[in-house]
Formats: sequence, C-alpha cells, structure tokens
Amino acid sequence: MAKILVQGGNRLAGKITISGAKNAALPLMAAALLTDQKLTLTNMPGLDDVLTMSNLLRGLGVSVDRDGSQITFDAGNLTSTEAPDELVRIMRASVLVLGPLVAREGKARVSLPGGCAIGARPVDLHLNALEQMGAEISVRDGFVEVLAPSGLTGAFITFPKVSVGATENLLMAAALAKGETVLNNAAQEPEITDLAHCLQAMGAKISGIGTSRLTIEGVPTLSGASHPVVADRIEAGTFAVAAAMTQGDLLLENARADHLTAPIDILRRAGVEVIEQDGSIRVKCDVDRLPAIDFTTEPFPAFPTDLQAQFMAMMTVASGTAVIRETIFENRFMHVPELTRMGASISINDRSAIVRGVDGLTGAPVMATDLRASVAMVLAGLVAEGQTEVGNIYHLDRGYDQVEAKLSAVGAAIRRVEE
Ligand code: UD1
Repeated sequence: MAKILVQGGNRLAGKITISGAKNAALPLMAAALLTDQKLTLTNMPGLDDVLTMSNLLRGLGVSVDRDGSQITFDAGNLTSTEAPDELVRIMRASVLVLGPLVAREGKARVSLPGGCAIGARPVDLHLNALEQMGAEISVRDGFVEVLAPSGLTGAFITFPKVSVGATENLLMAAALAKGETVLNNAAQEPEITDLAHCLQAMGAKISGIGTSRLTIEGVPTLSGASHPVVADRIEAGTFAVAAAMTQGDLLLENARADHLTAPIDILRRAGVEVIEQDGSIRVKCDVDRLPAIDFTTEPFPAFPTDLQAQFMAMMTVASGTAVIRETIFENRFMHVPELTRMGASISINDRSAIVRGVDGLTGAPVMATDLRASVAMVLAGLVAEGQTEVGNIYHLDRGYDQVEAKLSAVGAAIRRVEE
C-alpha cells in the first residue's frame, strides 16, 4: 500500500497550476451520454475518479479517447443503461448517469450508492424529481430502476434541500425532456454553472444559470461540443491553506477568486494576503501565528464542506479557539481523531468541532479517511515537527491531481513510498 511521507517545517513558495475541477469533470463526462455526437472536454484533471467515470461510460458503450488533458467521448452507440455496483460503490458520482440515460434512452438502472463514509448520502432528491418528470421508479436487488419509455416531460420542481448532484442530474434530464422544467432551490455551485454552459454549447436552452432557479426548455436532441473544465476551487483553496500555514507565498495559476469568496474572506480576516492577479490568486502570509476564526459549511456561495477539513487543519495551530460547524454532511469529522494523533486539541459537539489552537503539531502515522480529510493530513504534516505518514492515500488519488509533485515543486518535503 502506498503512503505519503511529509517532513514538516518547510516554507512553501512559488507557482502551482490549478487543474480542472473533479466535481465539474464528472458531471460533464455524464453529459456525453446526452448526445450521439462527440463531446470533447479539455483541462481534464488526472484523477482516479475520472478513470472510474471513464470505465463506467465505456461499460455503457461510450468510446473514450484521452489525449493528455483532453478527453473525447462518443456515445453514438450506447450498448447498456446500467451502472454496476462495483463502480457506484467506489464513486458515488456514478449516479450522475441516471438523468442523462433516462432522458436519452428512456431507462436506466443504477446500483444504489451504499452508506458512504461521510454520511448517509441518499438519492431520494434525484429520484423524487425524476418522478415528477414522469419517470417510474422501482428499487430491486440493490438497484434503482428508472423508466420513462415515452420520454420525460417538463415539470415545476422545488428541491426540499439543496443538492449539487440532484441539480446536475435533473438539469441534464430536463435538457432532453418535452417542454419546460423549472428547478427551484437548485444548487448554485460553480461546477453546476460549468455544466450548464457545456449543455448550452451542446444546444440546450437554459436560463437562470448561476442562480437557485434554473429554467430549461427541453430540445429533442443535443449536439457535440468542446468545453474546457472550470478550475478546481477546492484544490486552489487547499493550496491557499498550505501557503497560509507555512508562512509561504504561492501563486495559484488559473484559480478563480470569485469561486472562493467565503474561504478567502476567512484567510483575509486571519491576516493572510490574498491578491487576485490576471486570472490567478497569490496567497502570501507573514503572520507567525494565525488567529482562530469560526466558520460554518453551507451550500455555495457560503463556505464549502469540501474545504472544511483543510481549514480545520489550519485552525489546529491557530491562536485561540475556533468553532467549526458542518451543516452539509452529518459525519464529516473523521479527520478529527487523526489530527488529534498529531497533537491537535479538538472536541466534537454534535455538528460542531471546537478546535483549541496548540503551539505545534508532531508528525505521526495517520490515515486518510476520505478525500478531503486525506489532504488535511498532508497540510498538517507540512507544519508538524518530524515526519507524518499518511496511509490509505487512494482517497487522495481520487481527487487531487499530482499533489506530491505540485507541493514538492514549491518546497515541500513530500514523497510517495510503495510498501
Ligand atoms: C457534491 C460533491 C461533493 C460535495 C457535495 C456538497 C461532486 C461529485 N461531489 O456531492 O464533493 O461535498 O456536493 O457540496 O460534485 N442529500 C439527500 N438526498 C439526495 C441527495 C443529497 O438527502 O438525494 C443530502 C446529502 O446526504 C447531503 C446533502 O444533501 O447531506 C448535500 O449533498 P449533495 O449536494 O447532493 O452532494 P453530492 O452531489 O453527493
């Protein structure tokens, strides 16, 4: 099993190029199912989740042709409408094929995502909304089957809860439905905007992009397109924390400050300089010990749950006590025991973590418990005394494009070892 070893104490300085966003790439890949023409995605990140989604699409009959950071998908001859258990199990975003398959083929069968490490994560919002568009839903043998033999029809849908995945699935389904669909209380994450722009390039008629109310006028067919994947705001936010924690100076090339308003606000309140320059963000920190700042995760444009673990790592060595509230996932504090092993002082009270800043962390063997938690361990390791050994790093490879190469190029003592 591979591990990442981090030797703490180095200041990070230099340039890091931010990759395309995982959470945009996966729904964009699912959108390839909506057309019998070619969809080319550029600025694709090199991630295990992208490989998993490629395998899922291949299993449906899609041809996938990769050329560096460009991938072309051709769903001209679909041979299956089923997402198998082994792929859904390792990547929940597999459920994103549901909407496109039902819209184009009139049927889909997707293994139900099991209980995931960071919470129950059901798919009821996706299914209820598809039902409102005329689909028949049944659950059998651990699979959900969605049928709409005469196609989906537009509907006025109000999501009872904001969901990124449900908004994406329904946006794709509505693009090929008969008539108008309104998605109320839609998620507004930049990755949804990116998907909407790609669908528009494919011929979809969508208005209200970037707001919580999307209106889609269905069209009979969509065409091919070429679309660049938006920059990964979570990767950029993660490296911004790395700069702040190491009193460093990093230029994050291609990063979008407008997608990181809430995290940047916290960094600035802590005294970190965050400068927007020519489509990049420079993060420079001259503060010896950052002050503790409270924050709460909420849907975009508020603070993202996907940066909670990284900002918590930063707060473990801040001066004072930070209260961190997680409102999106009920069990997203699994990194807390691991950070505690490194000397952090954190207690959990229901959905809040109370982080009492300590003078320093010490390196320890720790486990990556989920994707974002795994990178939080790397961040803690950058400032810990001695060596931190991060195990279970398959989580890291699912969502971070060449993280060791990017960090070592700016001065981190980090390497991967195979055991
Ligand atoms: C996406 C992101 C993930 C991020 C999350 C929240 C991708 C591939 N993944 O996940 O990185 O952490 O948004 O920003 O883009 N829920 C239900 N019923 C449903 C669907 C969701 O109750 O049918 C709940 C979930 O359990 C969770 C909340 O709604 O508590 C938000 O989940 P959702 O926004 O759907 O997250 P994902 O799309 O799975």
